Amino acid sequence: MSDRHIAVIVLAAGLGTRMKSAKPKVMHPLAGRPMVRHLLETVEQLEPEKIVCVIGEDMDGVRETVAPVPCVIQKERLGTGHAVLAAEKTLAGFSGDILILYGDSPLISFETLSAHKTARAAGHAVAVLGFDAEEPGAYGRLIMNASDTLEAIIEAKDATPEQAAISFCNSGVMMADSEVLWKLLNRVGNDNAKGEYYLTDIVALARADGLTCAAVEGDEYELVGINDRVELALAETLVQAHLRMRAMVGGATLTDPETVYFSYDTKIGQDVVIGPHVVFGPGVTIEDNVEIRAYSHIEAAHVKPGAIIGPFARLRPGADIGPDVHIGNFVEVKNAVIEEGAKANHLAYIGDARVGAGANIGAGTITCNYDGYFKTHTDIGAGAFIGSNTALVAPVKIGDGASIGAGSVITKDVAADSLALERSEQKELAGAAKKIRERKAAKKAKSKN
Ligand code: UD1
Ligand code: MG
Repeated sequence: MSDRHIAVIVLAAGLGTRMKSAKPKVMHPLAGRPMVRHLLETVEQLEPEKIVCVIGEDMDGVRETVAPVPCVIQKERLGTGHAVLAAEKTLAGFSGDILILYGDSPLISFETLSAHKTARAAGHAVAVLGFDAEEPGAYGRLIMNASDTLEAIIEAKDATPEQAAISFCNSGVMMADSEVLWKLLNRVGNDNAKGEYYLTDIVALARADGLTCAAVEGDEYELVGINDRVELALAETLVQAHLRMRAMVGGATLTDPETVYFSYDTKIGQDVVIGPHVVFGPGVTIEDNVEIRAYSHIEAAHVKPGAIIGPFARLRPGADIGPDVHIGNFVEVKNAVIEEGAKANHLAYIGDARVGAGANIGAGTITCNYDGYFKTHTDIGAGAFIGSNTALVAPVKIGDGASIGAGSVITKDVAADSLALERSEQKELAGAAKKIRERKAAKKAKSKN
């Protein structure tokens, strides 16, 4: 029986009213990607024969996000049971087990899904995944019978005080034989507190037919439902805890783990040291022996071995930081290749550029890459020295080993090994400072009399 085929239905058509958002609930991100994508990634590991996503009419964004998983439309939101029925036609030719998941419960692990599959394989008509909730709140309650099988699921709004006191709750993850499922679902009514067609009612209907149902217990942390922003924040905390653990187990030191934020796809090498308050957006790779100092913000960037980033550095998309490079405080790098051993230690903007190996970028250097219409490139040769407060007006090329005097506005290419200076000549008036000082002091003393 364990080799039965599986089809998966992911429910994502709900309006997400409690989220108070123009964005569909399942599109809200966790660790930088929509929650529904987290769920699909796990589901795909089960290698189901089919996956179908149930969405609302106005949810093209969800359709694009779940692609190539096909979507069916639930025209009216009449409840979870009604939503599953929207997928009936699409799965008409399918025979086997149907696994139903809610798009707003995205943290389930592959191991838990597998355990759930095994429970269903034990022969119960419907297998439900439950958890012991610290705060049962709005979750459906699982009513067990004397033989420790599942008798019914009662929604919180319909529960008697005795039922509401039960802490064993419905996660929404359910598995049933396809034939049984469609038969039961077509008998579900909407005579309840919400006036909705509840998927959860199929348990009582199965029992009425003399079938047995199982409730398998899972971990609350994996099964939380995300209905509002408070639950979204809680889920983010859980995901971050997992990602921090993954980085540390992988050989990275996190000085103050709880202040570091990862994205779902952050890749961290070994012997990486990450200081407090560092944020990783999506698409980041940090290779071995890199140090990321406090308060740095990094997204879609690649950092090669031995580099030191921060404190207070910002690496934006396309920052390609070479081996042993130093990027210091208040330096922003965007779409730029910084080659081996180059340094930009303070207060600089390097965008749309190449900085050659061993080059030194002085404090206050700006690549002026945008004229309001077009972005253009700056090329800085190996070993070049850019003096402080230099504006490099792109497109411009600084040759290998060239030096730029501090305060220059460089608009023309500079040849290799040349020194370029662009500033007015310094004047000096001997004794003038002293004279002015004495004149002003005398004036001030007079005004006080
Ligand atoms: C549901 C369960 C509850 C369970 C909880 C777990 C029902 C009746 N209740 O409650 O027992 O404890 O999940 O988190 O199933 N959806 C549709 N179309 C609809 C209604 C909902 O696609 O017409 C989708 C939503 O997008 C969501 C999922 O189904 O992904 C669950 O709906 P939601 O309204 O969040 O149900 P809960 O009140 O959380
Ligand atoms: Mg929910």
